[in-house]
Amino acid sequence: MNITIAGTGYVGLVTGVCLAELGHQVICSDIQEEKIAMLQSGRSPIYEPGVEDLLEKNVACGRLHFTTNSQYAYGNAEIIFIAVGTPEQQDGTANLAYVREVAHSIAQFMKNDVIVCTKSTVPVGTNDQISEIIHRHKPANLHAEVVANPEFLREGSAVVDFFYGDRIVIGTDCSKAAAIIEQIYLPLDIPIIKTDLKSAEMIKYAANAFLATKISFINEIAMICEKVGANIEEVTNGIGKDQRIGPYFLQAGIGYGGSCFPKDTKALVQLAGNNQHSFDLLKAVIEVNNRQASLPVSKAKEVIGSLKSKKVTLLGLSFKPNTDDVRQAASLSIIKELLKEGAIITAFDPIAMSNALQVLGNTIEYTQDIRHALLHADVAIIATEWEEIKQIPLDFFELYMKKPIVIDGRNCYSLKEIRKHRITYISIGRPIVTNDYKKSETY
Ligand code: UDX
Repeated sequence: MNITIAGTGYVGLVTGVCLAELGHQVICSDIQEEKIAMLQSGRSPIYEPGVEDLLEKNVACGRLHFTTNSQYAYGNAEIIFIAVGTPEQQDGTANLAYVREVAHSIAQFMKNDVIVCTKSTVPVGTNDQISEIIHRHKPANLHAEVVANPEFLREGSAVVDFFYGDRIVIGTDCSKAAAIIEQIYLPLDIPIIKTDLKSAEMIKYAANAFLATKISFINEIAMICEKVGANIEEVTNGIGKDQRIGPYFLQAGIGYGGSCFPKDTKALVQLAGNNQHSFDLLKAVIEVNNRQASLPVSKAKEVIGSLKSKKVTLLGLSFKPNTDDVRQAASLSIIKELLKEGAIITAFDPIAMSNALQVLGNTIEYTQDIRHALLHADVAIIATEWEEIKQIPLDFFELYMKKPIVIDGRNCYSLKEIRKHRITYISIGRPIVTNDYKKSETY
């Protein structure tokens, strides 16, 4: 089929390369010329495992094209996926300006009947608005059907999620449109849920809100574990074996970040509020999450007092491993607080440093050398559980730091291993391991 994807962010690009891989003719369109030029040369503007290989292959065999020209993008399309951003506005609601712009362009340039499939996360009712815009402005002889097709791709494993996802949701009241979209996904052998437009929109918000709730719930339990001397890992293992609860998304830490959970939870609270319902549970989830990001700095202050002029090593900048994305990353709130306290920060991240530089500028030092990052540090804070960070030999903390004090916001190390070293180790929801660092000053 001739497919066009509007927007080449994480969702649009991954969807585009994967649909081309399935054999479709795909045009990805975006308003950013630089990005499109880069993609035309077969390079990916984002770090996402697997994307660049599929990109190169499908551009080379002529199935995948990139353009900033809306006429070319929408003129021949049979199916158009909308995958543009819906950024959070000041009041927490989703900004739908880009989605509306795309709807106008589709109406202006479409030359065939089209199915418009919305992948962007949009508040319930938005697809009706998209439909209205297109119907008001399209040529009278052509037909357009709007379908909600939310994505559940995780950054860092988006390509795998596309091919092996848990389910595909197709929301529309038009059975003909649903059948055509179903055909696209059939080769994937993933369960397909066909539903109405509004329920499909709601599924996306409900899924993300539920996952965020799991994370904040376990973080609350971790807080209590710390107070009563229990170990969150034991507790998680114990509850996760109950099939009604499941073992996933119960990793305690300094909270969720990224481009989806923070934005979508707030948008759902707003959506509920706009419909005369106060979503108190989700409000608490958001509050707990904000508190989690402030834990490393308060824990550091508890051990070493004032952080003024203290050297702090920050390990991990991305909001989670295997991505270069720093949007809403816990590391950014930690750095903001540390700078306010007058600390001097050196940060390490295997991939996300250039994105962090764009946000933080030269307010901190960046290094790719873990030993340099740790050298003479008063405290190390772990913000992302990158494999490179989990694999740091524990004696590095003893050898290079001024005081081997580690605040681990992602529970990267086993307490058993830590106890073999002279490290003061404070993690989330687990007993503190205290060692007299003064005795181990070997640097
Ligand atoms: C999420 C959803 O998983 C995906 O389905 C949706 O389409 C987009 O949003 P993503 O933001 O890429 O994907 O990351 P995800 O792996 O879900 O993690 C989100 C955040 O939660 C990360 O900051 C991660 O560190 C945190 N997290 C996750 C926890 O703190 N504990 C956990 O147990 C799991």
